[in-house]
Amino acid sequence: MVGAEIGDEEKMKASYFEQHGGPEVLTYGDLPDPEPAAGEVIVDIHAASVNGADWKVRAGGTYGEIESFPYILGRDFSGVVATLGEGAGDFAVGDPVFGVCERGQEGTYAEKIAMDQALCASKPDSMPHIDAACLSLTGLTAIISVEETLQLKAGEKILIQGGAGGVASFAIELAKHIGAHVITTCSARNMDYVRGLGADEVIDYGAQDFTEIVTDCDAVFETVGGDVTLKSFSVLKPGGRLAAIASGMQAPPSPRDDVESLRPAVGRDRKYMERIVKLYEAGVVHTQPVTVYSLENAVETHRVSESRHLQGKLVFQVR
Ligand SMILES: NC(=O)c1ccc[n+]([C@@H]2O[C@H](COP(=O)([O-])OP(=O)(O)OC[C@H]3O[C@@H](n4cnc5c(N)ncnc54)[C@H](OP(=O)(O)O)[C@@H]3O)[C@@H](O)[C@H]2O)c1
Repeated sequence: MVGAEIGDEEKMKASYFEQHGGPEVLTYGDLPDPEPAAGEVIVDIHAASVNGADWKVRAGGTYGEIESFPYILGRDFSGVVATLGEGAGDFAVGDPVFGVCERGQEGTYAEKIAMDQALCASKPDSMPHIDAACLSLTGLTAIISVEETLQLKAGEKILIQGGAGGVASFAIELAKHIGAHVITTCSARNMDYVRGLGADEVIDYGAQDFTEIVTDCDAVFETVGGDVTLKSFSVLKPGGRLAAIASGMQAPPSPRDDVESLRPAVGRDRKYMERIVKLYEAGVVHTQPVTVYSLENAVETHRVSESRHLQGKLVFQVR
């Protein structure tokens, strides 16, 4: 159903697309309000962030084709509970919540979303909606990758590829909190930014080849993809481990048999949101520089995101 064909039902504004393609396929218009299934709540979205995966879903291919259109992108949200579905008793109407949708059940580029209450967490007053939306998917990905998959320990040396990106920025702060020695790569214009996050060593990938500088790492967190993934295995010491999130859904094939290649399984549970709140309130992680857009400007946000050289986060302020 397209926006223009909607009948008398309640409508919300959303940014959606009806076929895969470039940023220009994103359309701003009316779609039907979501209905809560059992165990779901309707959230009035205040903020939703743009993630590096969104443009790949829009373009088609990387994460598979979408079968049902119109499709609303967006994985993380912060807002207020507006309606309770049957049996949804974890929250009350009016509670501020934030969280991340299941893969394939996106839809936060919109005024409302129906969410499984188990994927929502209470948003404290100390964390503004914009911060909560920006930190949720990046934060849970970094937490699962660094703490659960790599099991990074104090005193270990880690290379974090693509330090200026959303996930990697969170990972740098987390790895420093754990007590690791952090090396990261970024473009020249982002070097001061990643130093500010706490990185001990910063490599400008445009001027230097990290494989000629970095050796004997216990761990690599690879967020860039392509050739960078394969080359990153060379910096590991024997017994080292590499976790990759930008090279598909499987662990990348390793050219070495004395190191481990891992693909973090990124779950969406409430416990990860609660961990984000803890790290945020303790001052361990911070919201990155944020560029705020309205939903009408989704085409522009995707152009910036797809350029792959943003610093910090792009976020929609919805209300
Ligand atoms: N659940 C999951 O599995 C999951 C979740 C989130 C993200 N991801 C994936 O993880 C990747 C990162 O996501 P994100 O949201 O953090 O991305 P992002 O915020 O869009 O950041 C991309 C960053 O990559 C950097 N970059 C580009 N080329 C580079 C290179 N050759 N070497 C070093 N840095 C480079 C850019 O910084 P410069 O300007 O400094 O180049 C930019 O800041 C994406 O591929 C995304 O699909 C997976």
